[in-house]
Amino acid sequence: MHASENVRPVYLDPSQPIDKRVEDLLGRMTIEEKIGQLCQYSGFTSEYERMIIEGRIGSLLNVFGAKETNRIQKIAVEKTRLGIPLIFGLDVLHGYKTIFPIPLGLASTWDPDAVKKAASISAAEAAAEGIRWTFAPMVDIARDPRWGRIAEGAGEDPYLGSVMAKALVEGFQGDFSGLNVVACPKHYVAYGGAEGGRDYNTVDISERTLREVYLPPFKAAVEAGAGTVMSAFNDLNGIPASANPFTLRTILRGEWGFEGFVVSDWNAIGELINHGVAGDIFEAAEKALKAGVDMDMQGDVYRRALLQLVKDGRVSEDMINEAVRRILKIKFKIGLFEHPYVDVEYAKRIVKCKEHVEAALEIARKSIVLLKNDGAVLPLSKNIESIAVIGPLADDREAPLGPWSCLGDPRDIVTVLEGIKSRVSSETRILYAKGCDVDGLSTEGFKEAVEAAKKCKVAIVVVGESRDMSGEAACRAFLNLPGVQEELVKAVYETGVTTVEVLMNGRPLSIQWSADHIPAIVEAWFPGIQAGYAIADILFGNYNPGGKLPVTFPRTVGQVPIYYNHKNTGRPPSSDRWTSKYLDIPYTPLFPFGHGLSYTKFEYSELDISPREVTSPKDAIKIKLKVKNVGHLEGDEIVQLYINDPVASVTRPVKELKGFKRITLKPGEERIVEFTLTLEMLSFLNHEMKRVVEPGLFKVMVGSSSEDIRLTGTFTVKNLVEFP
Ligand code: GLC
Repeated sequence: MHASENVRPVYLDPSQPIDKRVEDLLGRMTIEEKIGQLCQYSGFTSEYERMIIEGRIGSLLNVFGAKETNRIQKIAVEKTRLGIPLIFGLDVLHGYKTIFPIPLGLASTWDPDAVKKAASISAAEAAAEGIRWTFAPMVDIARDPRWGRIAEGAGEDPYLGSVMAKALVEGFQGDFSGLNVVACPKHYVAYGGAEGGRDYNTVDISERTLREVYLPPFKAAVEAGAGTVMSAFNDLNGIPASANPFTLRTILRGEWGFEGFVVSDWNAIGELINHGVAGDIFEAAEKALKAGVDMDMQGDVYRRALLQLVKDGRVSEDMINEAVRRILKIKFKIGLFEHPYVDVEYAKRIVKCKEHVEAALEIARKSIVLLKNDGAVLPLSKNIESIAVIGPLADDREAPLGPWSCLGDPRDIVTVLEGIKSRVSSETRILYAKGCDVDGLSTEGFKEAVEAAKKCKVAIVVVGESRDMSGEAACRAFLNLPGVQEELVKAVYETGVTTVEVLMNGRPLSIQWSADHIPAIVEAWFPGIQAGYAIADILFGNYNPGGKLPVTFPRTVGQVPIYYNHKNTGRPPSSDRWTSKYLDIPYTPLFPFGHGLSYTKFEYSELDISPREVTSPKDAIKIKLKVKNVGHLEGDEIVQLYINDPVASVTRPVKELKGFKRITLKPGEERIVEFTLTLEMLSFLNHEMKRVVEPGLFKVMVGSSSEDIRLTGTFTVKNLVEFP
């Protein structure tokens, strides 16, 4: 036995530095095996098995279960020449089997620690079953609720979106020491800016808007250490995002120093042909690889085209090596070579374990937003004599899972009806009537619903959208309640019974009639497997709602786009006719960004801003105030800090969120809340596209929503400050 025969190759020696292992392995790979690492496919077939054995696949997505991932991984590790493990990816956005609120609901908590916890649990369950890469967080800013994917992100604001992006990346990835998954902020970039809110549509925005609205959450995710990024379907200012050197190389790698790898969205490379920037798969592959897309998800373009492109000298092997290095680094970094398999029995113990389900309830409660509560109709008494529970979503097991729910199982869902039954006294009479479908025109069920309402003290009507009415390829031209649901609400309301409306939906809805008539409205989004308990806890006061809207609710779809951090224009809307507004609706939103009520009341006082005059670039502005719970119930308040730069070299938003804190106060308790504003947080791109803070006055606004400003103040910046 020659000495060399039993010396472990460097790439298989965990004591060696990762870079050394990468170079050693790269040096052993054929060009075909290198290209194989750049190819990802969905599911598993006998064809894929053959390709894996030939070293032509580097990753699979949509493979489920520990036994299955182990079985397939064994082929890659034990039946291939070099034994390079596969990395299994999946869309673990808000839960693997323990399903949390959809990301728009997570954002409604305005609680990064809670959101991080949800991501961490989701990662642990997925990783326990061999999934080591999630195609999340989705960090696309969305200002158009017609776009179904607004459900998957953190809403309309770059600051809130950045805070949530950081929390999710940290939650998913941890320190890669245990059951973590590699994060993949998506869809890079500006996918949420699709014209008309129509999925996959053109995006044409200024570089200023790109940099100040759509890029910040991605930057926050990269700064949080995201290991991968997903390039988007859309074309951006004429250049498709999956073949865009400006965004992928100049910004992502050049300006931000991103060192991970970029995976395309599903066949986004192949779709360069549809975009009309590639005449065939060879041109598509060449453009995408040169732009910086390292892995081809499900397009089968890299496999078919790259070898020929290398032979033709159109793509260098060095460029292939650059992409392979990034992918191998991630595989080494997460320990795939040392631990390619998972413990099936351990997975059974932690997936959907008691602690995880309890966390799902805790976070679902935090995500729920009380939109309206006239006359303090809520909370209801647990000893109420009778309740009619009505609506197509009242006993629905699908909707609470939301549009991306991995292994989420409807059988695990607690429906609203079940939740209500579990929270009221055994004496309470509960009548249930579906009333109608989510969609469809039949009103046959109205009679039963109205009869039930007439027999009860309160009617709880649970309406909204089905889970497939939001998410990918789920755009709506209208934002009202689908089908005849609004008519159902009206029919119940017209019986004279006290009516409470619970919404389960994946986007803002233009529920003007309900807002005008229904005394209490609760926005639950799609709250996950503990939906019924969480909603019932709000309805009966076991939990005082504290969530706030991460998106603006328009009065009607004609008002879109409408978002809080808009420009003032030369004629800001007012009662004067000759200003920027519509003739046929008020110019204010139905519910504003940051809106959310509580069963208690909070008073704000004693705003202190220091220093009032900023002279040094190093100065930070300390903002302090007091918040007091002046009600009778403990509750959470999300204190929001907005600023406005009223005079600058370019027009600036009328207000911008620059800080928030969710605090819990007991009745009578008062807390000092502090924020720190750095000059960089105030900076913007001036008329020359330079990042600056210009001298002048700044307005400070602190409040309970973007429209419910409680305290204001100012400070002045004395000198121009420029940033790199
Ligand atoms: C889809 C989505 C993307 C998802 C991917 C894999 O088309 O656009 O968000 O991660 O395919 O499922």
